[in-house]
Amino acid sequence: MDARLDTRTSRYHETYARWQRDPLGFWGEAAAEIDWLEKPKTVFDAKAGIYGHWFPDGVCNTCFNAVDRHVDRGRGEQAAIIYDSPLTGTKRTITYHRLLTEVQVLGGMLRDLGVGKGDRVILYMPMIPEAVFAMLACARIGAIHSVVFGGFAARELATRIDDATPKVILSASCGLEPGRIVQYKPLLDEAISLATHKPQACLILQRPQSEASLLEGRDRDWARMRDHALVHARSAWDCVPVAATDPLYILYTSGTTGRPKGVMRDNGGHMVALKWSMQNLYGIAPGEVWWTASDIGWVVGHSYIVYGPLLHGCTSILYEGKPIGTPDAGAFWRVIAEHGAVALFTAPTAFRAIKKEDPQGKLMARHDLSKFRTLFLAGERADPPTLEWAEALLKVPVIDHWWQTETGWCIAGNPVGLGLLPVKHGSPTVAMPGYDIRIVDEGCREQPDSTMGSIVVKLPLPPGCLPTLWRADQRMRESYLEEFPGYYKTADAGFKDEDGYIFVMGRTDDIINVAGHRLSTGGMEEVLASHPDVAECAVLGIKDELKGEVPCGFIVLKSGVNRPATEIEKECVALIRDKIGPVAAFKLAVTVARLPKTRSGKILRGTMKKIADGDAWQMPATIDDPAILDEIGSALKGKGLADNRPA
Ligand code: COA
Ligand code: AMP
Repeated sequence: MDARLDTRTSRYHETYARWQRDPLGFWGEAAAEIDWLEKPKTVFDAKAGIYGHWFPDGVCNTCFNAVDRHVDRGRGEQAAIIYDSPLTGTKRTITYHRLLTEVQVLGGMLRDLGVGKGDRVILYMPMIPEAVFAMLACARIGAIHSVVFGGFAARELATRIDDATPKVILSASCGLEPGRIVQYKPLLDEAISLATHKPQACLILQRPQSEASLLEGRDRDWARMRDHALVHARSAWDCVPVAATDPLYILYTSGTTGRPKGVMRDNGGHMVALKWSMQNLYGIAPGEVWWTASDIGWVVGHSYIVYGPLLHGCTSILYEGKPIGTPDAGAFWRVIAEHGAVALFTAPTAFRAIKKEDPQGKLMARHDLSKFRTLFLAGERADPPTLEWAEALLKVPVIDHWWQTETGWCIAGNPVGLGLLPVKHGSPTVAMPGYDIRIVDEGCREQPDSTMGSIVVKLPLPPGCLPTLWRADQRMRESYLEEFPGYYKTADAGFKDEDGYIFVMGRTDDIINVAGHRLSTGGMEEVLASHPDVAECAVLGIKDELKGEVPCGFIVLKSGVNRPATEIEKECVALIRDKIGPVAAFKLAVTVARLPKTRSGKILRGTMKKIADGDAWQMPATIDDPAILDEIGSALKGKGLADNRPA
């Protein structure tokens, strides 16, 4: 614990207690920070929706709050977005005034393509300003965007097309990864041909790095259409009033099977929560420069590259690059210094990558980081060694905070704006107002301090969290609400200590976290099982120094298959890349004769993981055949991985 900090100097405890005493008063007051077209008379309707609705009678527009109102109030010349792309050697500053013009024009273009209020629009785009314009333009006209991360393959995109049934898809000719151009257009074409639902039109931004061929009748050239739209009447581009409870976006995230969950976000509650968090959690003032180094395809990108900072009138850095290799491990320091960022939000894996390349932090010396105040980490557990390294190097608070795609903002964190609480390494600190966090056992009984259990949140969830899954109310109930009645199941396990600090130790389902990217091992198993020579398989997340976890697939071949196992393993690796995408980072397939199971036929994944991680393990009492674990150990050893004897 950091002895320099005194809990009494933080306003956190009084703020949390005030929320507990009067949650509706608390969020009603926070809602005053939003410009409503019709102010909500009701803060929360417990009878509406699945667990209630926030601001049910409010009318608003998210784009108006993120853009127009700042121009109206004198921020027109302030930078809204700084696009910094070491991958293309480009930098571009977009003022709020310019941003307004761009979203007005793009909103008009979407309307010309037939998109109206409530229609879905899929965005399959790289980290370029047009992607942000597109999100905001959808919000402006009341359409619902669904951004699909560029590292997903065509089949994943197709699944999302069929679930969201978009009227239009916005994409670019290509994305850029170090040393390679990712051709988006062929992936998009393949996804549309795989999907049952067909969009009416695709708007394609041609990037100079690689132009794509357009399909006559379906594809439209973004730049050409924009030139045409610029001459349209401005009045047609006004913000469309939407109900606070109308969907702003759908963001697909890994479920326990190959079918992703469409997390839905509303307009009103989302704005209220994000605006509150910018000041009170992150301690950022309007006008300051904020940087989230993530991707707009993830929730962190939605909330804190786009909506949070823009709702708050900040300048948001949009970075198309990596922590290392673009050009070196000093890239983050260069961006912070050059643009005067006061805070950075990224995943711990980015800092592990920098630490590995430049352990002494020598590259930092060249840059002036005097404006930099705080580093925020999320997306995966912040391992204490990385956290300590960053603290020692940066000499500013390094704040771990915990959240999920479903919640859209932080569940537990250290509220810099309210006054920092002592940092305990390994803990994302305390529950944010709005979240009543409990630790329970499988019978939903609360656990004493420092005892591991399932982490649940007492309903209702605060504003900003998912009201439901897109067109899947029943799946919402089954996935999150039924196992622990009255609570939202986070599917994370952990404990609370005597100071109320939360420790998040891992998932209770088969989701793994690879370089801060959430992936379903169940989804990978479905793909491996489709290989004609694979009889059975199990995918686990195993420890990785850089990415935290990486997937490892154990495969059992069908009897009679006599091709070399290494050949089939290579095909399995290629299959996952082809079906799920490079983001799965699936590089390790291990052929085994049998999978270890309990007598009732359950695969002993926990024990296999311990063996692979080189951790001590016990022989499970229920194991069917103990010899199989030796076979697993030997197979892993054959791949250069740990082979531990049982404890
Ligand atoms: N489009 C296409 N491919 C992509 C992609 C995108 N948007 N993003 C990643 N990929 C590819 C990568 O090129 C890589 O391909 P490869 O197998 O051919 O090398 C693969 O997907 C795996 O990517 P990743 O796991 O990110 O590994 P990496 O080696 O490229 O980079 C880090 C490792 C740590 C540098 C990187 O993951 C990182 O910066 N992470 C921290 C920030 C972050 O994104 N957090 C997410 C949520 S907060
Ligand atoms: P995502 O939905 O991609 O944001 O992933 C959410 C999951 O990532 C959570 O359920 C956790 O398992 C993990 N996670 C995110 N942030 C943290 C954190 N600060 N500490 C521990 N785990 C985290």
